Amino acid sequence: MKINTSEFIISNSDVSKCPKEPLPEYAFIGRSNVGKSSLINMLTGRNSLAKTSGKPGKTQLINHFKINENWFLVDLPGYGYARVSKKTKEVFQGFITDYFEKREQLVCAFVLIDIRLEAQKIDLEFITYLGETQVPFCIIFTKADKISRHKIAQNVAAYRKALLANNWEEMPQHFVTSSTEGTGRDELLQYIDDVNQG
Ligand code: GTP
Ligand code: MG
Repeated sequence: MKINTSEFIISNSDVSKCPKEPLPEYAFIGRSNVGKSSLINMLTGRNSLAKTSGKPGKTQLINHFKINENWFLVDLPGYGYARVSKKTKEVFQGFITDYFEKREQLVCAFVLIDIRLEAQKIDLEFITYLGETQVPFCIIFTKADKISRHKIAQNVAAYRKALLANNWEEMPQHFVTSSTEGTGRDELLQYIDDVNQG
């Protein structure tokens, strides 16, 4: 799929204020700093459509970006960033879980995982939560440019093992990406196109 247009529509912390149009949407979620906003920029070919930062905690709201006038990419705040105050963290979790539980337009959540790290408890818990909430999701491994191909294959295999040990029967659909190198872009856009076509 070719992306012809991408435009920022609205940021907010209230699911009821998200765009009302019944267009399919794809949300990016994962630990702070994992590369959610960078991946949105890589996919759309826009350097600063979504705001990124070397410091975790940059994205603080639900951000809707309309693509090709007929679907949305949604950038969400990260979870698991210890330096935000407990109160802020609770608020994040409240509106993030609200989003996953109430947003009818959501067709797929992309859970971003840093390819360099072994499976983190908070991600496994979040994946379990998505399963319990029956939200369809895929896994996106990020920052693949940081390690060798061999190590990528090893780490994906290790992640699969961790999921199986966590009661998943199979490795979910997954993608390996690098926002700096454009890795995984075609596969991801093809996947979205296929889902959009039904
Ligand atoms: P929050 O909004 O804070 O939750 O973070 P985020 O998940 O949106 O991460 P963001 O896209 O802001 O990126 C965090 C840092 O990782 C930035 O310094 C990015 O440049 C860097 N980064 C993101 N993706 C990649 C990647 O694929 N490769 C490399 N080398 N760096 C990346
Ligand atoms: Mg962000």
